Amino acid sequence: MINTRNIVRQDEIDLFKKVWDNDQDRKFSDWYGSSDQSEITMERIEILPNSKEYDIITGIVKKIRPEATQVWSAYQRQLKPHNIHLDTLDGLTETMIIPLNHDPLAKVLVWSQKFSSVEEFQEFLIEWGSLDNEPINPNLHNEYDIDHTRDPNNGKFLAEYLDLIGDFSYNLGTINHFPGHNLHCSSDWTRIPGMKFKELVVIHTN
Ligand SMILES: [Fe+2]
Repeated sequence: MINTRNIVRQDEIDLFKKVWDNDQDRKFSDWYGSSDQSEITMERIEILPNSKEYDIITGIVKKIRPEATQVWSAYQRQLKPHNIHLDTLDGLTETMIIPLNHDPLAKVLVWSQKFSSVEEFQEFLIEWGSLDNEPINPNLHNEYDIDHTRDPNNGKFLAEYLDLIGDFSYNLGTINHFPGHNLHCSSDWTRIPGMKFKELVVIHTN
C-alpha cells in the first residue's frame, strides 16, 4: 500500500527547490494537520500546470500510475510535524511525496484505517478514547518520535490503537505514495539536530 520508487533525478530536485525562491508571491500558509488548528504546519506554493516543473511531475506520476488523469501538486515547506490526519481533495485519492531534503530519520507513518471525510474522522476522534480496547502497537511511541500525536484529552496515543501498514523515510531521489484517505502522520523530525523544516513536493492524483 506504500510504494517507494527511486526515480527522481537530482536536477529535477534542484528545479523543484527553486520554486521556493522564484514564486514567493504565490506562497500560502496552511494549518491543516496541526494538533489544535492553531499553528501553521506548512507553507505551500502550487506548481502550476503549463510549467516545466509540472510537466516533470506529470511525467513521474505517469511512470508509476499510468491511469492518472488529474494531478495537483505543490512545493511544500513543512514547519511543524503533521498530526494524524487524512488527505481529502475531491476525487484525488492518491498522495505522493517527493522529499527535497534527505534524512532517513524523518518518517511518515501510514495506517490501514481510512475515512471518507474529515468530519467522519473527527467523529471517530471524539469516540475512540472511550473505546475499551487494547493498543495494537503499545510500544510505537518508543519506536518513532510521535509525542506530537498524543491525545491531550486522555494522554494516549491513537497511533498505538491503529493498524500500521508501514512507513517511509525522507530519502532524496524517491517518490513515495499511498492512499491519502488512510490515516497518516509525520514523525517529529524537529527533534533531528539541524533540521528546521522539511521540504517536499506533494502531489494529489486520482
Ligand atoms: Fe497528508
